[in-house]
Amino acid sequence: MPLLGCAQQQSQAGTEKHRPQIHFTPETKWMNDPNGMVYYKGIYHLFYQYFPGGIKWGPMHWGHATSKDLVHWDRLPVALYPDSLGLIFSGSAVVDSLNTSGLGRDGKIPLVAIFTHHDMKGEEEKRSDFQNQSLAYSLDEGKTWTKYTGNPVLKNPGITDFRDPKVSWYPEQKKWVMTLATKNRITFYSSPDLKSWKKESEFGEQLGAHGGVWECPDLFPLTLNGEKYYVLLISINPGAPNGGSGTQYFIGDFDGNKFTPLQSETRWIDYGTDNYAGITWSNTGSRKVFIGWMNNWTYANQVPTESWRGATTIAREFKLFSDKNGISLRTEPVEELATLARATVNLPKAVGTGESKPLNTTSLSGPYKLKLQTSSLASFSVVLSNAAKGKLVVGYDKASNRFYIDRREAGNNAFNKEFAKIHYAPRISSGKTISLTLFVDVASVELFADNGLSVMTDVFFPEQPLGLISVQAPAALTLKELSYTPLKSIW
Ligand code: FRU
Repeated sequence: MPLLGCAQQQSQAGTEKHRPQIHFTPETKWMNDPNGMVYYKGIYHLFYQYFPGGIKWGPMHWGHATSKDLVHWDRLPVALYPDSLGLIFSGSAVVDSLNTSGLGRDGKIPLVAIFTHHDMKGEEEKRSDFQNQSLAYSLDEGKTWTKYTGNPVLKNPGITDFRDPKVSWYPEQKKWVMTLATKNRITFYSSPDLKSWKKESEFGEQLGAHGGVWECPDLFPLTLNGEKYYVLLISINPGAPNGGSGTQYFIGDFDGNKFTPLQSETRWIDYGTDNYAGITWSNTGSRKVFIGWMNNWTYANQVPTESWRGATTIAREFKLFSDKNGISLRTEPVEELATLARATVNLPKAVGTGESKPLNTTSLSGPYKLKLQTSSLASFSVVLSNAAKGKLVVGYDKASNRFYIDRREAGNNAFNKEFAKIHYAPRISSGKTISLTLFVDVASVELFADNGLSVMTDVFFPEQPLGLISVQAPAALTLKELSYTPLKSIW
């Protein structure tokens, strides 16, 4: 049951300054990582790291929301509260259809959440075993949750960072696999029943980015041309390409025991600064849907929102793509977002040189989607601005073959000196034209370039919505497409 009726929700948590209109946010207070995402009986459950006592990180609970379409969310009561074993840190949830855990009753299938219990006292005493993995289960399709009495189910062997279990069923060997962040590597465990866990292997001590501790991993299969591959996501903080927190990935093989990567270089699912700790939904079949925390630990506790802090990214679907550079991960905004679309407006396709005037003068005060396609490989920039001299620039630079987002003049930057920067993403595609889709909300932009091969997510805090659009280029060019589609608010 939603905490508030619809009308009330809208007035209290729909219109404040910087309140995202197409992204999930808690009605009030602090959120960070999305957790325990599971799809069951037509409902997408989203849990998240939540502190109901303030708008800075604090003792963690699991907040809860549900959606039928990955776009509109109902806010629900807190699902998991801290207990004598500790705070409720990040984790995942599965549908235990075969009742391997024995937690099902009277033929009811249990949904089982696997999360990290973080014992504050143990941390203060400087012990090394204060993070342990525990279970909670639901017998009413995810509405209410009961902690398992045998917690913790996976005890810490003496590793200070031992957390964020992502569990999935490995059908070939009829067992559960847990992908766990263990300081500077991933440790895989397996279990027949979610209660007793056996160590399988470790991955990554010598591979990938190691600028910070590894957190919130995910492991899932995707198929390309009839071949199955495994994708391993690993969030790291700090050490992301544009500073602070970010999520790297590996594509490879998993045999139930060991992950073997195909490539050794570090790749990132998103080169912007504001997509962290994301994982995919379980129980969605071959479709892999992802949501991340649209923030960065560098400034997350300082961003200038008042009654709440934190949002998720839009839901995205992962696909694989292969070309001469090997196999890459591609990210698409979920197609369900189309339900928000109003009528698309086409803009002039001829772009002159130098400063160009905003192309549309009708005021776009809410979120919108912008699409652009070039007819050749050429530098250009899309300038989103407002009458208060706020400006956000998203573009492609041919000489360095990079996309960028420049938020230096987009609005309030004063809260943290690392915030006002230009961020870059390498172009992965070798295609001859560039296509990009932007999802622009009141306080964020999500860039999907070349069908999602280069992705960037950045937040910003403008005085007024950035509703004016112009396109600039160093040399005159004619675009194949330039259009925007105003989007309805989800609230
Ligand atoms: C990632 C993270 C997780 C941890 C949680 C605590 O942002 O640090 O590793 O479980 O946040 O809120």
